[in-house]
Amino acid sequence: MEIIIRPTSLEGSLLAARIVARTVREKPHAVLGFATGSTPLVLYQELARLHREKGLDFGSVAAFNLDEYIGLPVDHPASFHHYMRRNLFEHLNIRPEHVHIPDGLAADIPAACRKYEDEIRSAGGIDVQILGIGTNGHIGFNEPSSSLASRTRIKTLTRQTRLDNAADFGGVENVPPHVITMGLGTILESRMCLLLAFGAKKAEAVSRMVEGPVTASLPASVLQLHPRSVIVLDREAAADLERAEYYEWTNSQKPEWQKY
Ligand code: F6R
Repeated sequence: MEIIIRPTSLEGSLLAARIVARTVREKPHAVLGFATGSTPLVLYQELARLHREKGLDFGSVAAFNLDEYIGLPVDHPASFHHYMRRNLFEHLNIRPEHVHIPDGLAADIPAACRKYEDEIRSAGGIDVQILGIGTNGHIGFNEPSSSLASRTRIKTLTRQTRLDNAADFGGVENVPPHVITMGLGTILESRMCLLLAFGAKKAEAVSRMVEGPVTASLPASVLQLHPRSVIVLDREAAADLERAEYYEWTNSQKPEWQKY
C-alpha cells in the first residue's frame, strides 16, 4: 500500500485529482470507478475545473459507480444517480451511454448485478477505482463480514452506516435498508485503487485498514492484498497510524519520476 499523508483534505483531494487526470490524459479510453459521499466532492470539483479550464477530455472515458440504494427513484435527491449527475457528470463531457450506475430499481436484482459485472468486463476493467471508507471500514457498501471475494450483489446496510447517511434522508428511519454494491472481489480487480479518507472520524478505520490484519470484519483491509492501492489521507485521518512518520519519509524520498 502506498500511504500519502497531506496536511489538509484539500491538498489530498488535489493530489487525487492529479492521479485521475494523468490516467485520463495517458489513456483517453480510461475506465474510471467512482464513489459518492462527502469525501470525493472536492476531487470532483477539481476534475470539473480541469475539464472547464484545461480541456481535460472525458469524451471517451467510461464510468462505473460502486453502489446505489435499492428502491430510490433516480431523481431522488439522495440517490447516487442524482449525486453523480449534480456533482460530476453534468460538469464534464462524459457521454451518457458511457455512464454506469447500479440499477436499484431493477425488477430482477441478481440479473442486474450479473449484467453490471459483464459491463465492467466488456469495458476492459476499471483503471482507477476511487474509494471512500465508512467509519465501520466498509468500501463500496461492503459492510463488515462481507466476503473478501464478493461480487456485485445486494447488501443490507448496518445501523451504523444508516446513521452515518441519515442526514441525506431526514432521519435514519428513511434510509433504505438495501443497496447494490460492487463486491470486494470486483473492486480488487481494478488496476489501481485510490482511497481517500479525511477527518478524525475516519482515523480508527484507517489505522485498522493499513496496519491491522486482513479481515472481513474491516472490509477495507482487503486493499492490503491489492498490488496498487494508493491511500490519500489528511493528518486527522492519519492520526492513529503507528508508522505515519515512515510513510511521510517514504513520500519525501520519492524519485522525481514517481511523484504525482
Ligand atoms: C459511496 C461509498 C461509501 C462511502 C463511505 C464514506 O459510494 O461507496 O463506501 O465512500 O461510506 O462516505 P463519506 O465520504 O460520506 O464519509
